[in-house]
Amino acid sequence: MNDRPKVTCHMTSSLDGGLHPSRYTKSPKGVVKDWSAAYEGIHDAIAADAWLVGRVTMAEMAKGAPHPPAGHGAVERPVHVARRDAKTYAVAVDRSGKLHFAKGDIGGDPVVVLLGGGVEDRHLAELAGDGVSYIVAEGPEIDLGTALAVLRREFGIGHLLLEGGGGVNGSFLAAGLVDELSLVLAPALVGRVGEETIAVFGTEGLQGKVELTLLGVETLEHDLLHLRYAVTPS
Ligand SMILES: NC(=O)c1ccc[n+]([C@@H]2O[C@H](COP(=O)([O-])OP(=O)(O)OC[C@H]3O[C@@H](n4cnc5c(N)ncnc54)[C@H](OP(=O)(O)O)[C@@H]3O)[C@@H](O)[C@H]2O)c1
Repeated sequence: MNDRPKVTCHMTSSLDGGLHPSRYTKSPKGVVKDWSAAYEGIHDAIAADAWLVGRVTMAEMAKGAPHPPAGHGAVERPVHVARRDAKTYAVAVDRSGKLHFAKGDIGGDPVVVLLGGGVEDRHLAELAGDGVSYIVAEGPEIDLGTALAVLRREFGIGHLLLEGGGGVNGSFLAAGLVDELSLVLAPALVGRVGEETIAVFGTEGLQGKVELTLLGVETLEHDLLHLRYAVTPS
């Protein structure tokens, strides 16, 4: 635990675990914008050193097109540090280098990308040219525990917020790398929408892997509930 950051998974969910607010039923006590504001307020209050999202979620924010440099010199592996002194970092898990950035930060938070070992040098050169930091795994798959330890050692990240989507949340939970769950529960339902329904913890199954212990329940404005749980390996 000491060699990696504390990890708090912070998410908004419908009562039935739905991830996408655009599919939530309405509430007479508030709209999705109010719920997002409450979620962001808790994010700010926790004041972690970094927030981390999966490749799909980061693609909604990065908005860059591929622009590999025409030619490049030697690239740094396994770690390139573009910024070391940031208050908060934005971290993305991108196994095969599909993410492209228009600049080196998201909302002022410098970006760090976690990549699989098979990623090409020209992609690393593109990231470095954009002012993006990166950590490349030894093998084709990303060892999330090792990547967390590097985030702590190289960037001084002591507390990280894991903020979705369901795919990346499930990966961290299944690997026993989540210490706390912070869930903002909206007064809404989604219902099952065929195979497209996205759950807050999208993984094959967590039974026998983790145990939750309630730390606190708070009723917020707009009929929201803030639930906090300690997460321990089962
Ligand atoms: N309600 C909320 O609070 C909230 C918060 C965040 C996001 N969201 C929503 O959630 C949706 C996206 O969720 P999602 O589950 O589809 O995607 P996601 O978790 O954002 O990204 C999943 C991708 O991340 C990469 N990844 C995850 N675990 C990995 C691992 N262990 N090793 C290597 N790569 C790994 C994979 O990328 P590759 O496929 O490239 O290998 C995987 O497909 C979006 O619509 C977003 O708006 C909601």
